Amino acid sequence: MTATTHADVSVTLGGARAVADVPARMFGSFVEHLGRCVYGGIYEPDHPTADDQGFRSDVLDLVRELGVTCVRYPGGNFVSNYNWEDGTGPRDQRPVRRDLAWHCTETNEMGIDDFYRWSQRAGTEIMLAVNMGTRGLKAALDELEYVNGAPGTAWADRRVANGIPEPMGVRMWCIGNEMDGPWQVGHMTPEEYALAVDKVAHAMKLAESGLELVACGSSSAHMPTFGEWERTVLTKAYDNLDFVSCHAYYYERGAKSLQDYLASSEDMAGFIATVAACADEAKAAHNGDHDIALSFDEWGVWYSDVWNQQEAEWKAAASEGLHPEPWPKAPHLLEDIYSAADAVVEGSLMITLLKHCDRVRSASRAQLVNVIAPIMAEEHGPAWRQTVFYPFAEAAHHAKGAVFAPEVDAPAVHTEAYGDVDAVEAVVTWDEETREGLLLVVNRDIASAHTLHVDLSTLPGAGADAPAVTHTMMLHDDDPHRQNTAEQPDAVVPQPFDVTADDGRLSFAMPAISWAAVRFTA
Ligand code: AHR
Repeated sequence: MTATTHADVSVTLGGARAVADVPARMFGSFVEHLGRCVYGGIYEPDHPTADDQGFRSDVLDLVRELGVTCVRYPGGNFVSNYNWEDGTGPRDQRPVRRDLAWHCTETNEMGIDDFYRWSQRAGTEIMLAVNMGTRGLKAALDELEYVNGAPGTAWADRRVANGIPEPMGVRMWCIGNEMDGPWQVGHMTPEEYALAVDKVAHAMKLAESGLELVACGSSSAHMPTFGEWERTVLTKAYDNLDFVSCHAYYYERGAKSLQDYLASSEDMAGFIATVAACADEAKAAHNGDHDIALSFDEWGVWYSDVWNQQEAEWKAAASEGLHPEPWPKAPHLLEDIYSAADAVVEGSLMITLLKHCDRVRSASRAQLVNVIAPIMAEEHGPAWRQTVFYPFAEAAHHAKGAVFAPEVDAPAVHTEAYGDVDAVEAVVTWDEETREGLLLVVNRDIASAHTLHVDLSTLPGAGADAPAVTHTMMLHDDDPHRQNTAEQPDAVVPQPFDVTADDGRLSFAMPAISWAAVRFTA
């Protein structure tokens, strides 16, 4: 790093050793029974675009445009008080329940069967979470048999009777959600969860050894048990675990300054390094034969202070007595509206995930529709793209092949939380077979534009000629707080920009607080 704020930035690939291949599950998302994510989001039977199952076709179109590969379901905090059976069978016979996580009425009009059908239409893999809050081993095994079992056993036959003859083939299962969090129904100490997840994972693998099982990690890198939780859980349950989850949300008011907020990926990188070290410790303690990978299965921007305030008000009201009034159905919750700066932050979080894809083999941006989401769906009205839609979609569709973490020589920007950090963050993906590459880059400097020189000449198998740029897009607004809204859904959309290509080097300028993508062939 140099001290000047206006110097050019050089991005080089050095020895050009790939970090790893781009994991297909890097572009996952998350659908929770929360607010209007499910009801009024993916499912709205009286919407003009609803299909024969009640799924919104306009939302399905945007999900495909977003490029989502895998979707975690049904929670989240919701799952810790959920009976998966409630969402199966004829809709008019499903029980209505109270959801303790979000203080709502759950009608169970959507459940596993419906989500399976929706996923087939969306073209996405399913990642299921089981309830470790009010339930555990028995319910997890029954659910596994219902979902994946061959016809001929009681639970599998129940699925067949419900209209799904084929096993759903769900490989990836989260064993609970954020069980370290005091807000979680049935939350546990590290030792309690370590014992529980070990038993559940062991039994699930007796049923199907090819499952990929995810243990809850810490709810954030700022939990009091962070590190201790991972070491205890992973060491105890190592033999039957494939993944440990990581969750991290960021927002501007939660950071010390706008500059700190733009550098949020530093926190994510530290989180990844610590959890990877704990996974390595567990492997060493067992003289193990496999790595436990990271599943970053909740990440993104969430203005969580709004929710915290709402929850505090409910609790204060409840402390005055019992409240027998019905709880709301699918209320407007966590419907954050994102800005240009939020999109730049999410762009840099995606770059960080890709740069660490040797350890992070799965990730789910939270969530998909209406609730802290890239897609908004108006009741009876149109669906539209938030600013954060664009960096995700570009990576999901065009980050292919191998990932290269380039050396970046950039001016420093000062942050209170992370000290001096590079103004620019970048990653390159390169598919040697198709000869298509993608450069993703952010200028996270709040004050200065920067000019980049990017040297791609050492990409393996790249031709002697300069790379040819096939497509460019930049997301920036002079007002970093400008948002897309229902009234103005296209206020902030990426625009093409000029890149010069010369002798294997690309040159271009990026304004302060911007995200850019350059597709090339070489
Ligand atoms: O995504 C919103 C919530 O954030 C999830 O339910 C929970 O897992 C996390 O705390």
